[in-house]
Amino acid sequence: MRADKKTRRFSAVNILPLLKTKFIGKETIFLPEIDSTNNFALKLLKGKMVSNGALIIANYQSAGRGRHGKRWLAPKGKALLFSVIFTELQQSPLLPLLTLAGSLSVAEAIRQGSPSLKPVIRWPNDILINGKKVAGVLAETSAELKASKPTTGAVLGIGINVNQRQKDFLPEIATTATSLSILLGKPISRLEILTSVLLKLEKNYSALEQGQHNKFWSRFKKLSSTLGKGIRIKLPDGRKISGTAVDIDTDGALLVRLDSGQTIKFFSGDIEELQWAE
Ligand code: BTN
Repeated sequence: MRADKKTRRFSAVNILPLLKTKFIGKETIFLPEIDSTNNFALKLLKGKMVSNGALIIANYQSAGRGRHGKRWLAPKGKALLFSVIFTELQQSPLLPLLTLAGSLSVAEAIRQGSPSLKPVIRWPNDILINGKKVAGVLAETSAELKASKPTTGAVLGIGINVNQRQKDFLPEIATTATSLSILLGKPISRLEILTSVLLKLEKNYSALEQGQHNKFWSRFKKLSSTLGKGIRIKLPDGRKISGTAVDIDTDGALLVRLDSGQTIKFFSGDIEELQWAE
């Protein structure tokens, strides 16, 4: 991975010629600043005035969002902050899988660009390198869309820590976050990573859409750091449950075997991976 060349500013004009995708990013909206690319994308989706695969990318987000209401903030110009709009997606069964497709695509793109880095996926949406979070994924559909039947359309938001320094991270994540630049010891090209992630995303999304789930799962499970591990899962209502992550179901849910021997399915939750593995 190289640094952004001075002549290649990070803008739609420079992104478009580099894209090798068939439909993702063919419509690209570059925003110097926005509250959240996911918010912007959800509004476009609701207004039905956008094409499948449209890319919304920002140089800065004033109110970037992570899962479970967490903040996702990065200094101007340092991170990759974007959302892809899927207008055709049926909310069920593909929506939970979209998060996993996003996570897989980021991990694969980083691996390909920097073979020395070994990103893994902490189910369902954290991309970790050496145990620290380098990227996160947030798939959403709006309440208005949910209310309309049949439900179609979703937004996949991706945030990748590219050129942040350690002191750039919010205090609450200062010890658990890292960036590609910190790991590689040099400035990194956001353009290069973006084009690579989008190409992987198109491949992974299409595999799911065309029912080629086996290929998808074998790639995903290979990069999962969660499977086979002892985990503690924090549920949206605050309860914590411990067990062993035994598998990921075809609908994207995590299967956890409790000490009692019972296996439970989790669709959401914050995972803490413990040291022991099966
Ligand atoms: C997480 O790890 O909790 C998910 C983080 C997702 C952040 C991205 S940045 C682009 C898009 N816009 C947002 O407001 N959030 C997502």
